[in-house]
Amino acid sequence: MRLILLGPPGAGKGTQAQRLVEKYSIPQLSTGDMLRAAVTAGTEVGKRAKAVMDAGELVSDDIVNAIVSDRIDEPDCVRGFILDGYPRTLVQADAVEVMLNSKGLKLDTVIELVVDDKALVGRIIKRAEEAAAAGQPVRKDDNAEVFEERLREYYKKTAPLTGYYYAKGMLRTVDGMASIEAVTEEIDTVLASL
Ligand code: AP5
Repeated sequence: MRLILLGPPGAGKGTQAQRLVEKYSIPQLSTGDMLRAAVTAGTEVGKRAKAVMDAGELVSDDIVNAIVSDRIDEPDCVRGFILDGYPRTLVQADAVEVMLNSKGLKLDTVIELVVDDKALVGRIIKRAEEAAAAGQPVRKDDNAEVFEERLREYYKKTAPLTGYYYAKGMLRTVDGMASIEAVTEEIDTVLASL
């Protein structure tokens, strides 16, 4: 199975992706995680991405498309994968289509998690507070100021993907305001109906 999890920052994409990994034994391809790993490792990509990510803006399409294309070629993706946080612009959406076609692969569905803006910022602040309380590192972009920019970027560049996939008949929407468990159940229902 190959699917995209779409939704604003804090919508629950990562949380649900991890559950899908366990259920379907396919990897979660999170561009956010991959970029953060590159920043930590101090690679050339990481150096270019760091300031952009810290400011809550989007990393360039070229960098992200190349990372994902290479990752899809790895053997654990042969049975499928969950794209989490990618594509995030119309250019990336076109690129993923070309990329998959060139590899002889097809997307099964796009699931959008719909969550109110107010709930999103609350989740992000809570995550930062919990990480700090547990003595874990806090994401540099998990604070109210940078979150505002992340949300602006989402509405400007990512929200148009809803219409893009709706027009292709691929979009399924799920109520991301429900509990984590209830969201998982709704996603399961969507996937069972494919
Ligand atoms: P990325 O790491 O992708 O972050 P994001 O999309 O902003 O989203 P999050 O990871 O914060 O949220 P999520 O939707 O995964 O929610 P989660 O499950 O964690 O991107 C970071 C940065 O990297 C970008 O700003 C950009 O700079 C760069 N980047 C990444 N991809 C890129 C791309 N394709 N192109 C260009 N740049 C890119 O949940 C959040 C919290 O809410 C958790 O604490 C969770 O426990 C809680 N929660 C989850 N579900 C629920 C629920 N149903 N009810 C209550 N709480 C819930």
